[in-house]
Amino acid sequence: MQIYLGNLRHDISSKRMLELGRQVLFPTQLIPLPLDQGREDKLRGCLDYITMKQTELDYLKGWFKQYVASYYDLPGDGVKPILLKEKHTERTCKEIVRLGRELDLSEGDLLLAETAALFHDIGRFPQWKNYATFNDSASEDHALLGLEVIFQHKILTSLGAEDRELIEMAILHHNSRKLPLDLSQRQDLFSRLLRDADKLDIWSLVINELEGCGNLVETLAGIIPISNSINHNIVTELMERKVPDFSSVRNRNDMILLRLGWVFDLNFPVTCGKVLERRYIERLCGNLPALKEIEDVEKSIISFLNNRAKEQS
Ligand SMILES: [Fe+2]
Repeated sequence: MQIYLGNLRHDISSKRMLELGRQVLFPTQLIPLPLDQGREDKLRGCLDYITMKQTELDYLKGWFKQYVASYYDLPGDGVKPILLKEKHTERTCKEIVRLGRELDLSEGDLLLAETAALFHDIGRFPQWKNYATFNDSASEDHALLGLEVIFQHKILTSLGAEDRELIEMAILHHNSRKLPLDLSQRQDLFSRLLRDADKLDIWSLVINELEGCGNLVETLAGIIPISNSINHNIVTELMERKVPDFSSVRNRNDMILLRLGWVFDLNFPVTCGKVLERRYIERLCGNLPALKEIEDVEKSIISFLNNRAKEQS
């Protein structure tokens, strides 16, 4: 539905894209929130606030829970990916608050950041139901699908316009290859925070699966065969400290290499410190063939992270 917005993604400004989203996707028909009853009362008195309040976040968390529960009745194993994303969302909320605290964000900004994390993957639920995949290129961009859900259900309308746009921008760009240059300073900060928090949890998910021999996360990203080979071009890119592209991935080893390359897209020294503390690099490399070039990649990435972690935020 309305995929042409996705095609416009790289041709128009972020702000224009959100305006189009609001006007074009749902110009007249607005579907009320399942928890709509009493919402006005709950929010009365809060409408003239400058920053968000905890009561509003609590309300939104309740709404999210109900929304996700509406996907619980998918047949067979269809609910597994739903639960996976629900748990990922919960953990990403925790990650973003931890990062935000270490970066000395105000209490109001922590609530906004957590709201962005709460809704960042909401497009995954309709994506799974409609396409049975989490592969955006084989279906739709899940960030745009998420904004459709947000606009359709008027989820963020109780927030001030600036806060609402801040959250929408962070969601819109959480999965972009690069952040656009037309974001405000705050939009840029919140987008970077969300991207780092999301990566921290995806690494953990992938490593847990690799160590527990599960394969749900990677299967959902597309059919990734298990093989002993590696794409040497990706290794070269990693040694040059470049983020590899998904199009280079041929098998599960390449996918692990791709995930390693995310370190070059991290935004905050504190995130780099967490990757080191949690030994994500060693654990990912431990699942790759025992080759000299993999050892070199591991050393190079750890040295990069050590240097980045020492920088000032
Ligand atoms: Fe995510």
